[in-house]
Amino acid sequence: EKSGYEHFMLKEIFEQPKSVHDTMRGRLLVDEGVIKMAGIWDHIEKFKNANRIIIIACGTSWHAGLIGEYLIEEYARIPVEVEYASEFRYRNPIITDKDVVIAISQSGETADTMAALKLAKERGAFIYGICNVVDSSIARITDAGSYTHAGPEIGVASTKAFTAQLTILSLIALKLGKHNGNLGNADFMSLIAELDAIPKKIEDVLSSTHELVQNIAKDFVQATNFLYLGRGYNYPAALEGALKLKEISYIHAEGYPAAEMKHGPIALIDENMPIVIIAPKKGHYDKIVSNVQEIKARKGKVIAVVNRGDTQVSEMSDYVIEIPETSECFSPIIASVPLQLLAYYIAVYRGANVDQPRNLAKSVTVE
Ligand code: F6R
Repeated sequence: EKSGYEHFMLKEIFEQPKSVHDTMRGRLLVDEGVIKMAGIWDHIEKFKNANRIIIIACGTSWHAGLIGEYLIEEYARIPVEVEYASEFRYRNPIITDKDVVIAISQSGETADTMAALKLAKERGAFIYGICNVVDSSIARITDAGSYTHAGPEIGVASTKAFTAQLTILSLIALKLGKHNGNLGNADFMSLIAELDAIPKKIEDVLSSTHELVQNIAKDFVQATNFLYLGRGYNYPAALEGALKLKEISYIHAEGYPAAEMKHGPIALIDENMPIVIIAPKKGHYDKIVSNVQEIKARKGKVIAVVNRGDTQVSEMSDYVIEIPETSECFSPIIASVPLQLLAYYIAVYRGANVDQPRNLAKSVTVE
């Protein structure tokens, strides 16, 4: 069942070229210049007339939601809020029949997400689901939706479901933006071509960084803390990188928007603090360069995820992981892959049970 891999998690990390491709298949028609999504198209008036979109999720799916917010606001220009299901359901939120709620859930069974949706439904919102498990409870309560076609995810730590969620959110944002005229045809065409190339780029990252990341992991087996930093689209990717590490290796890790460092976490930095920094060319690169300078001035150990051929950040960093370039909005899909591998190998070298981490369940059916 693990097809020769030591753990489901590693198998699932390596399945991502296929799971992302499967999630786009039949939807992204590059030659025709079309994104086909019946769930969106059949309810296009709901999206067109929405006052705002509220994305509801937990955990990794919530991180995907944050990236969805950036995507939908940038390309479709519809206001988006992202809520933890557990907070939303207990705070008497303002919600009306002019709101569209998007629920993101791999399992489709998360109790808090389900309860939040029931509340939104009672108040008349239109509910859209992004689930991986077909016919799950959340998939059934929604008015419409798009399945991620990631295939069964067995490892408790979500990997391929996350990148499939990002794929769906990208498709939705581009489709809505094209439809409502906020995204011009030329930009739309170049973005869909970029998106179509993502599976190949994931394959490239897997083969070019696998060994390197294993070696980096060996140096951090004894670490007790980690910071993960990113800006823009890669800020949620930093949150997700930190979550992967803490849940399977039990090393404390925090994700932060890089610019927030000086508002507190910079106090933590010394020669014992490893800092993973996501710094692709497109996306506030110059700002990231100065963040890295600030870290190095305090002797933090920098593990940088950069684009191939990078020099500025690379020269200052202790470890460099190179990934291929893509549009800024899709870069979290690519950048997440080496971070999944890093968490995986650190956990394996610490002897942790990566597929079944302590205290965690694959599907959280209690609140
Ligand atoms: C992290 C992880 C959890 C889930 C969360 C939501 O790797 O697996 O944080 O993402 O419990 O689960 P779903 O997406 O099934 O609603």
